[in-house]
Amino acid sequence: MIYLDNAATTMHKPQTVIDAVVHAMTSMGNASRGAHTGALEASRTIYETRRKIAKLFGCKRPDHVVFTCNSTEALNIAIQGAIPAKSHVITTDLEHNSVLRPLYRLKEESGVCLDFARADRQGRLDLQELEGLIRPDTKAIVCTHMSNLTGEIVDIARIGRMTKDRGILLCVDASQSAGNTPIDMEQMGIDILCFTGHKGLMGPQGTGGMCIREGVEIHPLKEGGSGVQSYRHRQPVEYPTRLEAGTLNGHGLAGLSAALDYILETGVETIGRKERMLAEHFYEGVSQIEGVKVYGCFEDKNRGPVVALNVREYDSSEVSDVLSVDYDIATRPGAHCAPRMHEALGTVDQGAVRFSFSWFNTVEETDQAIEAVRKIALA
Ligand SMILES: Cc1ncc(COP(=O)(O)O)c(C=O)c1O
Repeated sequence: MIYLDNAATTMHKPQTVIDAVVHAMTSMGNASRGAHTGALEASRTIYETRRKIAKLFGCKRPDHVVFTCNSTEALNIAIQGAIPAKSHVITTDLEHNSVLRPLYRLKEESGVCLDFARADRQGRLDLQELEGLIRPDTKAIVCTHMSNLTGEIVDIARIGRMTKDRGILLCVDASQSAGNTPIDMEQMGIDILCFTGHKGLMGPQGTGGMCIREGVEIHPLKEGGSGVQSYRHRQPVEYPTRLEAGTLNGHGLAGLSAALDYILETGVETIGRKERMLAEHFYEGVSQIEGVKVYGCFEDKNRGPVVALNVREYDSSEVSDVLSVDYDIATRPGAHCAPRMHEALGTVDQGAVRFSFSWFNTVEETDQAIEAVRKIALA
């Protein structure tokens, strides 16, 4: 199979990730629950994973790295736990439902007033327009770093300069950028960075989390066993325990730890450069084909390794099915959980076929995908 659905999840993982999970499943106890060797191994492995995440994202404090089962959970905790009722919040048309739905819920249930920075027909944001939406009662900006549909990268550092002196919380969804685009929380002025472990970070599914800047208060969404301060009625107030009730996915985090070693050794820039080269190569091939419409802006080379397109007026699901059944190429059709972006691009009815590239893809695979699109378009 030629796997080009890496924006959904990366299928090919470094062998060290698989080995680390297998090792953890035969040796790991429960972190923070006991002092036998198995429990200590779990605690150490998980702490090491926090340390590597903090290093990768420029988070000053490893103990402010909180693990969740994916970025959806992290975003729910951040949005519901850090945004006050009745406040004003700005977000964008580029967002995934894991940002939109928790925000719509706050709007309905907590009287939060929501404004959207609009995407243009090419899926680009106007950050001047976004700045114009800021009001005296604006408490948070929740924004993706990279669109999962067009690969558009948002200039988070510029938004960070808008929020810093105004006391506005900046919460960033790095689900698509983590692992392929440099992120430095401090330099970019990010207060909460949410990530998922199974996409560009090349870790197992069921891993993810958030990095929290020192001083940012997040109310826990869940309470329960923590292994410490067991006689307190409420969840401990210290991070990361404050937001981590219940047993963590230690086996998955051991795999994520190995994946982070791989990424830190290889280098985010190196990985991103190769993935972008493949996406660019694919774009150049398919954009020449009659009947193919590619979405997004390709003038800017600083974009994610994602290309979304449609072939003639064919439904995107039909095209994706033909790619899978006739050519053994995995892509993702439909709405990609990004409803407002499809509205902006004018693709609500047709959806789009998304091709997304990983470190393990090759130029040969990319050429075969271009040829498959050509044949479908000419059929
Ligand atoms: C931009 C963006 N945000 C959030 C998510 C949610 O990720 P997860 O399903 O790992 O929680 C995705 C996944 O597709 C995404 O692309």
